[in-house]
Amino acid sequence: MLDSDDGPPPPFPARILFETYEVGRLLGFGAFAKVYHARHTRSGHNVAIKVISKAKALRGNLFGNIKREIAAMRRLHHPHIVRLLEVFASRSTIYFVMEYAKGGELFTRLASSGRLPEDQSRRLFNQLISAVAFCHSRGVFHRDLKPENLLLDESNNLKLSDFGLSAIKSGDLGGEGLLHTLCGTPAYVAPEILLKIGYDGAKVDIWSCGIILFVMNAGYLPFNDSNLMGMYRKISRGGYRCPRWTSPELRQLISRLLDTNPATRITVEGILGDPWFRKGMDVEKVRRLMRFREDIEDRIAKIESGVSDEWDEERDLSAFDIISMSGGFNLSGFFNPAAAARERFLVEGRVDQVLDRMEKVSKEEGLWVRRWRRGEKGRGGAAVEGRMGTLVAWLEVFRLSPEFLVVEVESGTGEEAGRFNPQFWRESLTSRVRESAALPVAPTASKT
Ligand code: ADE
Repeated sequence: MLDSDDGPPPPFPARILFETYEVGRLLGFGAFAKVYHARHTRSGHNVAIKVISKAKALRGNLFGNIKREIAAMRRLHHPHIVRLLEVFASRSTIYFVMEYAKGGELFTRLASSGRLPEDQSRRLFNQLISAVAFCHSRGVFHRDLKPENLLLDESNNLKLSDFGLSAIKSGDLGGEGLLHTLCGTPAYVAPEILLKIGYDGAKVDIWSCGIILFVMNAGYLPFNDSNLMGMYRKISRGGYRCPRWTSPELRQLISRLLDTNPATRITVEGILGDPWFRKGMDVEKVRRLMRFREDIEDRIAKIESGVSDEWDEERDLSAFDIISMSGGFNLSGFFNPAAAARERFLVEGRVDQVLDRMEKVSKEEGLWVRRWRRGEKGRGGAAVEGRMGTLVAWLEVFRLSPEFLVVEVESGTGEEAGRFNPQFWRESLTSRVRESAALPVAPTASKT
């Protein structure tokens, strides 16, 4: 196991971490952390594991950053944001198990190819803006956007990573709602940060997106100097020159992004309306990505916040509900009119046991689970997502009596929903139940 008092030893020969991950080659490293490729031994899925030495984190006063990174990544489920799958800790080390982006850093790509053609820059910039806008809508500001933190997957899709410097709304704010911590990487830092008068986290991220767009198109930085103070002076003045191959539309957008005045700098809405950004693009798709999964989070929030004083300690479903479910009333459109299929079956046991099993089955299949519970004792459920974040299934566990539960499965609309249909869940959950013998099942599935 990777474990020592002062940072982890090298991972070779391959080591098995927590009996679950076979750790392989080093993908990258910073002052306080190393990132390794690893394989989930049972499913064979690739992951990246960030290994942080607690001793070094303590010396660097980094526990705040680590906590912020966990809190930020837990909130953010989006196809263009690296997913945090699990967090482990040993006596000396913290491990973040993350989605693996096979294409590595955009920085490396730019370093080898110099610059990108405009249409490729546009595609990646579209994805970047959808991810950044999504973060902002969830109250998370990245504050360290740069090509090193932009990864690419096997299809060259962008994945935003490294939320170590992210600010979460309310934590870092001064009285007037502005951030005060000096952070970021010098060349990507917005001019208002250098003034140390407080700044708007959304505006500084937009500035950094402007620098990234410039670098993708030009292959070099807009503000550069061998001397740090010289670089800061150039950033504050905002004088830069676009290379000659830059189209007039792109020049216009870059000038709106690299506006030194945060009050007049372009906003996400402005970017979505920009002619260069929109060219040949499905802007509705970008908008959809910005709202990504809000429907699921809203649905969960509504259920979770519905705990009332009259809450029945014993059950979620009455005999009347069961009669309704068994075909007397067709409730199929009740939760989601677009639901393709829904199935219910009975199991014996506790809600948490069934949710644990759902999570285990999902993980083995490489699916992600967003689990929820209505209060400590009420019904529970899980939104199950495929690899691109599309909803595969919505599972809900109702308490029928202290001993019995009804599991309701609703198919999602994602590409993988066909394979992970209600039948799949019924078979995998009930066969597990039989295996464990502790939770026998009365197979009373009914279709509405
Ligand atoms: N380097 C840093 N994080 C990574 C990830 N999640 N996937 C691939 N390479 C990485």
